[in-house]
Amino acid sequence: MKTVRLGLLGCGTVGGGVVRLIRENAANLASRVGAPLEIARVLVRDPSKERVPELSRDKLTTDPSAVLDDPSIDVVIEVLGGVEPARGYVERAIDARRSVVTANKMLLALHGPELVERAVRAGVDLAFEASVGGGIPVIRTLREALTSDHVTRLCGIVNGTSNYILTRMRQDGLSFEAALAEAQAKGYAEADPALDVDGGDAAHKLVVLAMLAFGARVPHDAVYTEGIRDVEPIDHEFAARFGYTVKHLAIGQKHDGHVELRVHPALLPQQATLANVGGVLNAILLEGRALGPCLLSGRGAGDLPTAVSVVADVVDVAGARLNGAAGLMTRSVRFEDTRLAPID
Ligand code: NDP
Ligand code: HSE
Repeated sequence: MKTVRLGLLGCGTVGGGVVRLIRENAANLASRVGAPLEIARVLVRDPSKERVPELSRDKLTTDPSAVLDDPSIDVVIEVLGGVEPARGYVERAIDARRSVVTANKMLLALHGPELVERAVRAGVDLAFEASVGGGIPVIRTLREALTSDHVTRLCGIVNGTSNYILTRMRQDGLSFEAALAEAQAKGYAEADPALDVDGGDAAHKLVVLAMLAFGARVPHDAVYTEGIRDVEPIDHEFAARFGYTVKHLAIGQKHDGHVELRVHPALLPQQATLANVGGVLNAILLEGRALGPCLLSGRGAGDLPTAVSVVADVVDVAGARLNGAAGLMTRSVRFEDTRLAPID
């Protein structure tokens, strides 16, 4: 039986979770794909670092060509983070007609449409479930379940680090710095945590969601973006006194061909569903014209929850390759002519 050979770019928090899940669920995954999955090569910066025990060290390399130019590799998993060199590696993998799975929302927010179109031209899949909502299947929901409807609005808590910090400050009286340090220790934060606390990561995710929900090509810097750095303990106290909770939200809506996208802290009534989504949990409320509201919630960051989404994508794209259906997933992304609405 053929083995599906995987090239893993990066083996930090998410990559380590991917290695563990693939090892722990090997038999189940093989039966779903129709062939065993094998992690063939793993690109890292520093091969001397300690890694998850499930990874055999002889797979490690610091040479990207050992992954990208190995013709026996079928699927490339990009969990490096950042735009370069990730973008160049993903392009090389696509051009070599390998399917790609990525968790990199920054890369997708800056170059998503061109990468999708490149993958369509090459006839391969570009899958990115883990880029928004960690383990929550929101990309699948938009790409598959809601294709028969028109999404008119989405509103969600999409940055686990910010939600964790706000929750620990409000419920446990932690300082911003202490709560951020905890989120970093748990593997929730970006390599540059300013992306989390200043709202950039949520803005990247909103651009990815808008691409699928509204078919919009939005420059990431056109999203109105505010983070949580200025939320102080006294803000939580006053909010509570008047029956509100401070939450960091990403909001997208489409009206009259215009798309409005914004990311900022907001006061939610304490009984509102999103007000009660605490810690690292994320929640995304989608509103379909026909469906009405649909709420998805779950762990939005961390090694194993995120790896669940990455590995689910691997199963899909690997199965598609074996069945001669590679590229169908990527062709389902449709772009529309949309204009950005100004934010007052
Ligand atoms: P980490 O910083 O923990 O891991 C990054 C990995 O990539 C490390 O193994 C690092 O090598 C390797 N790496 C980075 N740059 C290079 C390079 N130039 N050459 C070779 N190897 C490189 O990041 P995460 O695992 O947390 O995140 C990875 C991606 O997943 C990011 O795009 C992030 O936004 C996204 N993501 C993260 C989530 C999370 O909860 N952490 C959730 C959802 C998405 P070395 O180990 O040697 O330093
Ligand atoms: N740093 C991100 C967060 C990781 O905290 O939500 C998940 O995308």
